[in-house]
Amino acid sequence: MNFFIVFFIPLLASVNCQSKYILGEQGESCNEACFKLGMNCNPRIETNNSTSLFTQLGINCTNDPSVWWAEDQPSYVTDKNDPVGNYGKCLGYINVPTGSQCSGSFWSVSRICRCDTPSSSPSTFGAGYSNGMITTEQVLAPGDIGVLTHFWITYGTSMDNGVIVRYYIDGEKNASIQFTPSLACGVGYYDYHGPWGTKWFGKGANDAGWFNNFRIPFQKSIVVTVQHLYGNFSGFYMIVRGSINIPISVGGITLPRNARMNQFVINDTYQPLEFVPLVNISSGSGVHWMVTISAGSNNLNFLEGCFHAYFDGNNAFPGVVLSTGTEDYFDSAWYFNAGQFHLPVSGFTHFNQNNTSVTWSAYRFHEMDPLFFKHGFQLVWRIGDIDDAAGMKCMMLTGSNIAGSPGPTEVIAYAWVYTWEEDVANSSPTSLSTPSLSTTTSTTQESTTIPTTQEPTTISTTQESTTISTTQGSDPPQSTHKASKA
Ligand SMILES: *[C@@H]1O[C@H](CO)[C@@H](O)[C@H](O)[C@H]1NC(C)=O
Ligand SMILES: *[C@@H]1O[C@H](CO)[C@@H](O)[C@H](O)[C@H]1NC(C)=O
Ligand SMILES: *[C@@H]1O[C@H](CO)[C@@H](O)[C@H](O)[C@H]1NC(C)=O
Ligand SMILES: *[C@@H]1O[C@H](CO)[C@@H](O)[C@H](O)[C@H]1NC(C)=O
Ligand SMILES: *[C@@H]1O[C@H](CO)[C@@H](O)[C@H](O)[C@H]1NC(C)=O
Ligand SMILES: *[C@@H]1O[C@H](CO)[C@@H](O)[C@H](O)[C@H]1NC(C)=O
Ligand SMILES: *[C@@H]1O[C@H](CO)[C@@H](O)[C@H](O)[C@H]1NC(C)=O
Ligand SMILES: *[C@@H]1O[C@H](CO)[C@@H](O)[C@H](O)[C@H]1NC(C)=O
Ligand SMILES: *[C@@H]1O[C@H](CO)[C@@H](O)[C@H](O)[C@H]1NC(C)=O
Repeated sequence: MNFFIVFFIPLLASVNCQSKYILGEQGESCNEACFKLGMNCNPRIETNNSTSLFTQLGINCTNDPSVWWAEDQPSYVTDKNDPVGNYGKCLGYINVPTGSQCSGSFWSVSRICRCDTPSSSPSTFGAGYSNGMITTEQVLAPGDIGVLTHFWITYGTSMDNGVIVRYYIDGEKNASIQFTPSLACGVGYYDYHGPWGTKWFGKGANDAGWFNNFRIPFQKSIVVTVQHLYGNFSGFYMIVRGSINIPISVGGITLPRNARMNQFVINDTYQPLEFVPLVNISSGSGVHWMVTISAGSNNLNFLEGCFHAYFDGNNAFPGVVLSTGTEDYFDSAWYFNAGQFHLPVSGFTHFNQNNTSVTWSAYRFHEMDPLFFKHGFQLVWRIGDIDDAAGMKCMMLTGSNIAGSPGPTEVIAYAWVYTWEEDVANSSPTSLSTPSLSTTTSTTQESTTIPTTQEPTTISTTQESTTISTTQGSDPPQSTHKASKA
C-alpha cells in the first residue's frame, strides 16, 4: 500500500463556532469524517484518560487501558478480522497527544474525531505533515476566495521518482493539478543540485527541499494529497499554506476573482520537426503563467526548435514567434554555453550528456512579459527546426534544410495557465489581451556577424526595419499528440 495523506482546506459557510465529537466510519480518517459533515478536523482530542467519549457516543466496547500508540487512535475496533484480535475494544484513550493526526486511519477501526464548524474566515490557513502531525486546518465564510500560496516538501532522494502530489479543487473527483514535486519546481530528471531558488520556487536542500509559491485559487475547497507510486517511505514532510481574498496578478494586472489555474502535462516522445502542444486552449480568456520542459534526445539539435504562440483563435503558422531557438526562449543563447542557471524569469536546471544521449530541463515564467489572451491560446514548441532559403528559422512548416540532425526526443513538460470566464473578466480594469498587432524590429547596424559553429551565424538586414506579420500563413500542423489537461 502506498502512503496517502490528505489535507482538507474547505471554504464553507457557517455562523456558530462549535466543536463536537463523532465516530468516523470504519477505515476513515478524521479529515474525511469531518469533511463529510462540512466541518474541519480539530486535532485536539481530550479524553482525560477516560472512556467517557466512547460512552457519550453510545459505544459499548471492551476497555483497553494501553496507553495511546498509533495515529488512528482513540478508536473503536469495528472489524472482526482485526489483525491483532482487538475487535470490540476501545483503544488509545490513555495519554492521548495534545494534537493527533487528522489524516490517520486504519482499516479495521472507527476513530473518535473532533470536528469544528467555522465561525469566520481566517486570513491565513495552512497544514503541515511533520512525521505524523497535521497542525492546522481551516474552514471559511461564503463569498471568500481561497488562494494556495505555498507548497513545500522534503524526503530522501531515493523517494524522488514516484512522489505525486494532487490538488483537488472545488470538489473535483479527479485532481486537475497533479505533479512530481521537482518538475513543479522547474527541474527535470530529478536533478539534485541545490540550494537555489527564486521568489516563485526552488530547492533548499541536497535531498528534496522543493518549494513553490504558485498562487492556486479556489472558490470552495482545496484538498491536497500526496502519494508514493512505488513504495512505503518514512522521513517525509510536507507543508501547504494559503490566504483568503488575496489578489493574484500577472504582469502587474490583477486577475478576475473567478480565475483558476490549469496545469497542462506533456509526457510523450516526439519525432524531429514535430510540434509539441505545450498548451492548447480552444476558447476563453486567460494568461499563460509558466512552463517547465524536460527533454531527452540523442543529441542537442532539438534545441534548434522555436516556440510559437497562437492568440485568440488566430492559429495560422507561425503565429507569434516567441523564440528563435529553444535556449533563446529561456533567455540564454548558443546552446546555453554559460552552463546552468536559476534566474527569476528563466532557468536552465538540468544537463547531462554523453556520446549517445543528452537530458536537459529548463523553466520560463511570463510574469514580466505576460501572455494574455481572450479567445483561446496555444503554446507550441518544435523539436528542431528548418532554415528557409535565406537561412532564417521558425518560418518553415516543411522543407529539407534541417538545422543539424535532431533525433526523436522524449518530452515531459508542465505548463501552468490561468483562465477565467469572460463575462466576469469584464469587471477587471484593464484589457487583458496581448495585442495582435504587427511587431516591428529595427536595427541601425548594417550587419552583425556572430561567429559560432552551433547556431545560425548571421543576423543580417539592410532594411531599417523588419516587419513580422501575424496575419499570414497556413494552418498550424496537427500533431498526433494531444496536450492533456491533467
Ligand atoms: C476533559 O477535561 C476538560 C477540562 O476539565 C473538560 O472540558 C472536558 O469536557 C473533559 N473531557 C471529557 C471527555 O471528559
Ligand atoms: C455491553 O455489552 C456487554 C457484552 O456484550 C453486555 O453484557 C452489556 O449489557 C452491554 N451494555 C450496554 C450498556 O449495552
Ligand atoms: C493519563 O495516564 C497516563 C498513563 O497512566 C499518565 O502518565 C498521565 O499523566 C495521565 N494524564 C492525565 C491528564 O491524568
Ligand atoms: C477520472 O479519471 C478516471 C480514470 O482516468 C476516468 O475514468 C473518469 O472518467 C474520470 N472522472 C471524471 C469525473 O473526470
Ligand atoms: C506498504 O505498507 C503496506 C501496509 O503498511 C503493505 O501492505 C504494503 O505491501 C507495503 N508496500 C510496499 C511496496 O512495501
Ligand atoms: C510519464 O509517463 C510514464 C509512462 O506512461 C509514467 O510512468 C510517468 O510517471 C509519467 N511521468 C510524468 C511526470 O507524468
Ligand atoms: C549515456 O547516458 C544515458 C542516459 O543517462 C545512459 O543510459 C547511457 O548508458 C550512457 N551511455 C554511455 C556510453 O555512457
Ligand atoms: C565518446 O566519443 C569520443 C570521440 O568519438 C571517444 O573518444 C570516446 O571514447 C567516446 N566515449 C564513450 C564512453 O563511448
Ligand atoms: C488542440 O485542441 C483541439 C480541441 O480543443 C484539437 O482539435 C487540436 O487538435 C489540438 N491541437 C493540437 C496541436 O494538439
